[in-house]
Amino acid sequence: MTAGPTLEVEGLSKSFALRRGWTDAVARRKRPAHAAVDDVSFQLAPGEILGLAGGSGSGKTTLARMIIRLVEPDAGRITFDGVDVRSLSGRALRETRRRMQMVFQDPYSSLNPRMSVGAAILEAGRVHHQSGSEHPEQFVARFLDFVRLPAATARRRPEELSGGQRQRVAIARALAVGPDVVIADEAVSALDVSIQTQLLNLFLDLRDELGLSIIFVAHQLSVIAEVADRVAIMHLGRVVEVGPTAEVFRAPRDEYTRSLLAAHPHPAPLRASSKLREETS
Ligand SMILES: Nc1ncnc2c1ncn2[C@@H]1O[C@H](COP(=O)(O)OP(=O)(O)O)[C@@H](O)[C@H]1O
Ligand SMILES: [Mg+2]
Repeated sequence: MTAGPTLEVEGLSKSFALRRGWTDAVARRKRPAHAAVDDVSFQLAPGEILGLAGGSGSGKTTLARMIIRLVEPDAGRITFDGVDVRSLSGRALRETRRRMQMVFQDPYSSLNPRMSVGAAILEAGRVHHQSGSEHPEQFVARFLDFVRLPAATARRRPEELSGGQRQRVAIARALAVGPDVVIADEAVSALDVSIQTQLLNLFLDLRDELGLSIIFVAHQLSVIAEVADRVAIMHLGRVVEVGPTAEVFRAPRDEYTRSLLAAHPHPAPLRASSKLREETS
């Protein structure tokens, strides 16, 4: 594992104004706001996979989007490689953005349906000057190989691929930008369980091969159990519990974590977490 940068989030908060009803307008009441993310802190170590779990609307996506600065936080600090990300602008901000890439649930949100797979990967690399003097075809083949797709996939269009293959292309495209941190937001949630497992194994391999740090957002605890070294459980915008995945799932300390686990009685197997593999082998 390479010693990459550490990402640290401290006291991150974001409120959205609720839509005002007509009674509020008549009464000239102020628009109420509600906290989507409320005072969240955590660290992501180099080469670590941190799971972010919690029910729908608990603030996972808002938190992820604040980290890559798609959403401006109301308060809090994001430190990447010792630098306060919120103080950056211009070239330094672009460079930090390059080093943190997001993979979404719907690969179409990052893939242009009219562009071939090869062109999409090349464009990602070019925009961020990652391809250098490497032959374009070689550059594309290298990233397809990272995600275990044959080089011939370069000529296909997204719609010709299966959901799992499409998500692999989205991952290849994110990797072509040259990130140290990947934030996967429900990246496998819409896929069949067998395809899910293949992709989770891919994320684990990429962490080992490239030394990536990964924030893995998923509402399914079974998914978190398979990939995450540590897990943070979110509820109503707050992290209610954080710790090694196996520990949290075996002996949850927080009331909400317990109820979440009770609703998903089989978050096992906890087999794929590398720390666990080390412990049990
Ligand atoms: N752009 C937005 N405008 C208003 N409310 C939002 C916006 N984005 C998220 N929210 C609200 O913030 C809360 C957290 O949402 P989200 O971060 O998407 O949660 P999760 O990803 O855990 O399902 C929800 O109540 C959601 O309705
Ligand atoms: Mg979400």
